[in-house]
Amino acid sequence: MYVCLCHGVSDKKIRKLVVEEGITDIKGIKKCTALGSQCGKCVRSAKEIINESAATLFKQAG
Ligand code: FES
Repeated sequence: MYVCLCHGVSDKKIRKLVVEEGITDIKGIKKCTALGSQCGKCVRSAKEIINESAATLFKQAG
């Protein structure tokens, strides 16, 4: 599923950045992708996905 339609950033891509790069905030995602730099509509759902994946990450880490 695409989170950011303007720049074609998928939820998979965001989750990957969180899990593999340890990025846990929207700023970091924006640095790696163009997410949110056009209409900005995607920022809210992107944040939710980041929080969700970060939570699983921390659970795994114990
Ligand atoms: S959907 Fe992400 S900037 Fe428009």
